Amino acid sequence: MANKSIFKLVVLSSGYGSNLQAIIDQLHNEDGIEISAIISDKASESITRALNHNIPCLYLPRQKKQTREAYDQLLSELLKPFSPDLIVLAGFMRILSPAFIQRFPQQIINIHPSLLPKYKGLNTHQRVIDAKDKIHGTTIHYVDEHLDGGKIIAQKRIDVLPFDTAETLEQAIKSLEHVFYSATIHKLATKMRSNASLTPVNNDN
Ligand code: GRF
Repeated sequence: MANKSIFKLVVLSSGYGSNLQAIIDQLHNEDGIEISAIISDKASESITRALNHNIPCLYLPRQKKQTREAYDQLLSELLKPFSPDLIVLAGFMRILSPAFIQRFPQQIINIHPSLLPKYKGLNTHQRVIDAKDKIHGTTIHYVDEHLDGGKIIAQKRIDVLPFDTAETLEQAIKSLEHVFYSATIHKLATKMRSNASLTPVNNDN
């Protein structure tokens, strides 16, 4: 990352986008952070949220017979002009290919609604109920080649109460995420910026 004043996020979001909305409200055009683009693979609420805030937005559905690699190649080409410092997955329901991930080392993060490494994949809230767990939570992690793998950046826990259902847990986790994700992105941006300012710039390039 070059030492520059604006820290650019590109957010990938497939669905309802409540986390995306929280990031827009708390971080967009705050403290030198900008969402330079929002990309969705679905005609979703996320696109509406981008349009409502005049944030550049790309709708990139997967084409019939398009391989994951071909999709990701296109995605990374389209991302380039937005020069993201950090790619933020917020309910992005596609698995990214190793080639894509390697193009952006330590620059892609995700939020997953469980205390990883527990409950990778889908239906985490129901799985917590079924297992009668007393503690649940959410995890922010770097994205690597493995589903919900990658180094953990931060976690938050909640108690599972006797009357909880998958629906109440989902609500509680999302409320937590809406503060936790933005706060963690803000911290990462601060850290990445200060690391960049320590890195000598090679003026020959
Ligand atoms: C969140 O719970 C997040 O942890 C998971 O997908 C959900 C997205 O919800 N990755 P929303 O679209 O942000 O409302």
